[in-house]
Amino acid sequence: MNVGIDKMNFFVPPYYVDMTDLAIARDVDPNKFLIGIGQEQMAVSPKSQDIVTFAANAAKQLLTPEDLAAIDMVIVGTETSIDESKASAVVLHRLLGVQPFARSFEIKEACYGATAGVQLAKSHVRANPDSKVLVIASDIARYGLNSGGEPTQGAGAVAMLISRDPRILVLEEQNAMLTQDIYDFWRPVGHQYPLVDGPLSNATYIDSFQKVWKHYQAKYQRSLADFDALAFHIPYTKMGKKALLSILETESESEQARMLASYEESIVYSRKVGNLYTGSLYLGLISLLENSNTLAAGSRIGLFSYGSGAVSEFFSGTLVEGYEAFLAKEDHQMLLNNRHKLSIDEYEAMFNDALDIDTAATFEDALPFSITAIEGTIRTYRQ
Ligand code: HMG
Repeated sequence: MNVGIDKMNFFVPPYYVDMTDLAIARDVDPNKFLIGIGQEQMAVSPKSQDIVTFAANAAKQLLTPEDLAAIDMVIVGTETSIDESKASAVVLHRLLGVQPFARSFEIKEACYGATAGVQLAKSHVRANPDSKVLVIASDIARYGLNSGGEPTQGAGAVAMLISRDPRILVLEEQNAMLTQDIYDFWRPVGHQYPLVDGPLSNATYIDSFQKVWKHYQAKYQRSLADFDALAFHIPYTKMGKKALLSILETESESEQARMLASYEESIVYSRKVGNLYTGSLYLGLISLLENSNTLAAGSRIGLFSYGSGAVSEFFSGTLVEGYEAFLAKEDHQMLLNNRHKLSIDEYEAMFNDALDIDTAATFEDALPFSITAIEGTIRTYRQ
């Protein structure tokens, strides 16, 4: 039985900062952000939006009444939880109108969480072929104003429906996983922003990729020639490229060119939004599918998922005949093009205007799903 991604969609908040403006404001050469980091724009979210509203806005348009009746598991991969106990997936289950006899929960392991969700969903559908599982990656990536990580922030969600006979990507059985207990990026309970050792995080990302790729090759006797493209976790677009380059040295010129060309197709959207944490790999996959000139039914895509701390996985999928009909390139371009550009003053004001859940308040926001009020620490969402 084939199991995999039947539908997928992303959502990013309607505000962004131009990276040239940010570089000038921080007295940095803009080419450091544009070329060195590889980011053009960065998504910014206001306090009337959170991981639940991103997730609902990403998922709503995917789901038919038949899907809502068949979904029996809602999984949110996130490291921006809004509660230490109650899972955002429970709220999402209600907002989306999923039938009640379902499991709903969150998974956490930095940016790897949604991949754990996808793999769990795959096993669940294998055991229960009529089930569908909604997996959502939703996060707000923030390091603080004037911090080292500031140019690698972002926000947004990717929603995926996992089912049998999927219409986009069949997930293959071959996986290579790796766990290494490393403090490259972490957020102790109570800390508003993560602590990060930037150089160590870059090195651990590359080292993890090399290790899982080598393990995968040895386990399954597969090489780069078996893949039509690779998609990476993209904390900033230069990062995946550095990891990719590290395994291309021994490849022919044409093989290098082929892999680098598809890498460029996978980062079109990330260049404009920054890091989505759990969603970044899947945003890269959507970008690849919607911007590739070479992929076709049957093409095999390798996916590298990385979560600091650190857990990583290399896995793969093959494209289904007719997959193009289930993409939404025009909608996604409209979503990105219709965003409002913030001045640096506006960005800093929005950043500092954090949601205070201990103070009752109401909010105005035009999005289909947004926070409308806070009352007794509980968020009310517009449905
Ligand atoms: P930094 O110290 O600001 O930058 O940190 P840098 O000095 O390392 O420079 C960055 C690049 O810009 C370098 O290129 C420079 O040469 C280049 P590289 O050597 O790396 O190829 N550069 C220029 N290029 C052109 N023109 C110029 C110029 N000046 C310099 N004028 C860092 C950058 C990414 C470390 C920082 O922003 C940071 O700490 N970000 C957060 C951590 C991060 O994103 N780590 C990535 C791997 S970990 C990960 O992916 C997990 C994560 O998503 C979290 C999770 O799992 O939950 C983060």
